[in-house]
Amino acid sequence: MKSPQAMIFSSSSSCISSLFYGLVVICLTSATVYASGGGNETDYFALLSFKSTITHDPYKVLASWNHSFHFCDWSGVSCGKRHKRVTVLWLDSQGLEGFLSPHVGNLSFLRVLSLSNNSFQGTIPHELDRLFRLRDLYLDANKFSGVIPTNLSRCSNLEDVWLFLNELTGSIPMEMSLLSKLARLEIDDNKLTGGIPPFLGNITSLEMFSAGGNPFGGRIPDTLGHWKSLTTFYSGDCNLYGSIPHSIFNLSLLVDFSLPDNHLTGSLPLGIGNKLPNLEWLQLRDNELTGVLPPSISNYSKLKSLEMGHNNFSGKLTIDFSKLRDINLIYLAYNNFHGRREADDIRFINSLKNCTRLVTLDLYNCNLTGVLPVSIGNLSDQLTFLSLGVNQLSGSLPSSIGSLVGLTRLVLGANRFKGKIPTTIGKLQKLQVLYLDSNHFSGPIPDVIGNLSLLAKLYLYSNKLEGHIPSSLRNCKELNVLNLADNRLSGKLPWQLLKLPSLTILLNLSQNSLSGSIPSQIKDIPRS
Ligand SMILES: *[C@@H]1O[C@H](CO)[C@@H](O)[C@H](O)[C@H]1NC(C)=O
Ligand SMILES: *[C@@H]1O[C@H](CO)[C@@H](O)[C@H](O)[C@H]1NC(C)=O
Ligand SMILES: *[C@@H]1O[C@H](CO)[C@@H](O)[C@H](O)[C@H]1NC(C)=O
Ligand SMILES: *[C@@H]1O[C@H](CO)[C@@H](O)[C@H](O)[C@H]1NC(C)=O
Ligand SMILES: *[C@@H]1O[C@H](CO)[C@@H](O)[C@H](O)[C@H]1NC(C)=O
Ligand SMILES: *[C@@H]1O[C@H](CO)[C@@H](O)[C@H](O)[C@H]1NC(C)=O
Ligand SMILES: *[C@@H]1O[C@H](CO)[C@@H](O)[C@H](O)[C@H]1NC(C)=O
Ligand SMILES: *[C@@H]1O[C@H](CO)[C@@H](O)[C@H](O)[C@H]1NC(C)=O
Ligand SMILES: *[C@@H]1O[C@H](CO)[C@@H](O)[C@H](O)[C@H]1NC(C)=O
Ligand SMILES: *[C@@H]1O[C@H](CO)[C@@H](O)[C@H](O)[C@H]1NC(C)=O
Ligand SMILES: *[C@@H]1O[C@H](CO)[C@@H](O)[C@H](O)[C@H]1NC(C)=O
Ligand SMILES: *[C@@H]1O[C@H](CO)[C@@H](O)[C@H](O)[C@H]1NC(C)=O
Repeated sequence: MKSPQAMIFSSSSSCISSLFYGLVVICLTSATVYASGGGNETDYFALLSFKSTITHDPYKVLASWNHSFHFCDWSGVSCGKRHKRVTVLWLDSQGLEGFLSPHVGNLSFLRVLSLSNNSFQGTIPHELDRLFRLRDLYLDANKFSGVIPTNLSRCSNLEDVWLFLNELTGSIPMEMSLLSKLARLEIDDNKLTGGIPPFLGNITSLEMFSAGGNPFGGRIPDTLGHWKSLTTFYSGDCNLYGSIPHSIFNLSLLVDFSLPDNHLTGSLPLGIGNKLPNLEWLQLRDNELTGVLPPSISNYSKLKSLEMGHNNFSGKLTIDFSKLRDINLIYLAYNNFHGRREADDIRFINSLKNCTRLVTLDLYNCNLTGVLPVSIGNLSDQLTFLSLGVNQLSGSLPSSIGSLVGLTRLVLGANRFKGKIPTTIGKLQKLQVLYLDSNHFSGPIPDVIGNLSLLAKLYLYSNKLEGHIPSSLRNCKELNVLNLADNRLSGKLPWQLLKLPSLTILLNLSQNSLSGSIPSQIKDIPRS
């Protein structure tokens, strides 16, 4: 490695002929001479100013920003080969604290400014508008406040603008619509207001619009239907209301369409499933949408995630899932899918057998009636979460449920199931949480329940279960909730069970016909 002095010596032309050490030291302290020898002094001063407004540099990334090196060799700095002008300033995730110096606006050859995941505060300097070569601006995950600079629009080569996870306020400036090359605008998790403005529709180059977690308010403008290149539209939790303009369903390249946690109303066009052939994520959960869930969704053959829960959808669920072979999440909880007069609301389950990647099926509180088909057992072995709780399902629980060996949570509480709890339940070796409460189950609690060695929460209360509390439960070493209340259980309290050290959250055995003395161990257990 060359010594710092040697590097200075060779890069500083006014010192080339100097032969004695003293002059080298003079050169060392003469930054101007040095800089003009190897590059552009404006860039040099801009970088020095950048450094001077950093108040904390925990990993000492800016330590190399000194006279020993040409600024093109400073860490995080890249220059053009010929002109020695700064083209990239890349200082992600360096724990930097401080302000962004307006002098950065003098780095006139800058193409990439990336300061993601630091702790810059204060405003984004409007001087950035001079960076007309700037292509990528990554200021996400900092503490920038104030408004998005209006004149950024002069950086007409901008393709990526990432400002998410900051504290920006105000509205999206109208001038933004002049950025004719903008492809990815990501402004999530700020405090932006003023709605999603209609003029944004003029940025026809846009591929990704991600703006979730801002209190925008307002309606979704119809003009966004001009975003012909759009693949991602994410605006969750933005206080949006009104209906989704039909023009959006013309964006044929959309892969991710996500507007969860808003106040959207109205119904979905029946033909939506025939319009967005590339759709993989459809997330409209937690809105106030009404009408039927369009059966044409059956045609979204690339869909991975269907999240429509917590809306006011109604009418029988007539989606045929057999073409949706890649789907892994179906979340439809809290809707009313009761089909009038018909008692087979749950028949669509049959169409799920080809969905071999299904991990989550959530139909909690959907007003479903009918008998759970045996084909429930043909669901994916990848299924870890199945919830059909709070519906009106009747008949017995098919023993095929024991085929769902991937389940960790099974929620079937608050239905009208009757008959015995099938012993096949003992095959669900990965089960951690089991809700069978508030049904009409009768007969004994199967002994095999003790085979579920990972079981942590067992809710069997409010049934007609009888016989003894199986002592095999003592093998459930993770059990921390056991609620068997309001049944017809008899016999003695199984004291071995009460010794389970894990049982610390809830034990409720009330409203049964248990006999014998209460073992002294019970005083250590919280009860409800
Ligand atoms: C440095 O760049 C600035 C802006 O591009 C220019 O005005 C100035 O003349 C350049 N200086 C040198 C020494 O090249
Ligand atoms: C410049 O930075 C390098 C790397 O951090 C360091 O080794 C060197 O001592 C510094 N030189 C001066 C003059 O501060
Ligand atoms: C953010 O930066 C810190 C270092 O300051 C790092 O540990 C962390 O992994 C980074 N986070 C992300 C999401 O890159
Ligand atoms: C660089 O930018 C600052 C602030 O924007 C300005 O005051 C200064 O004159 C500019 N020029 C040079 C050569 O540093
Ligand atoms: C923005 O640019 C306009 C003209 O292009 C100028 O008049 C105005 O002062 C600039 N605003 C800021 C904050 O730089
Ligand atoms: C958007 O485009 C339309 C039609 O080209 C034009 O009339 C309108 O002025 C533009 N709006 C903005 C804010 O650029
Ligand atoms: C959707 O696109 C078609 C064909 O380009 C057009 O005729 C129709 O008006 C568009 N619909 C909406 C709601 O924008
Ligand atoms: C699905 O697409 C096919 C072919 O385009 C069409 O015939 C059928 O009606 C569509 N299904 C629904 C439910 O819209
Ligand atoms: C949605 O359903 C809830 C609960 O049933 C009801 O309070 C609310 O008024 C409904 N909203 C709409 C828009 O129908
Ligand atoms: C389901 O998968 C089976 C076997 O791969 C196939 O024969 C059947 O056609 C598929 N059903 C549908 C509706 O795609
Ligand atoms: C179930 O659906 C029927 C028919 O739509 C309705 O009358 C009833 O109130 C619903 N029940 C619940 C609990 O939502
Ligand atoms: C459904 O599962 C049962 C066993 O529970 C099996 O006999 C049957 O062949 C399966 N059907 C399909 C279509 O996979």
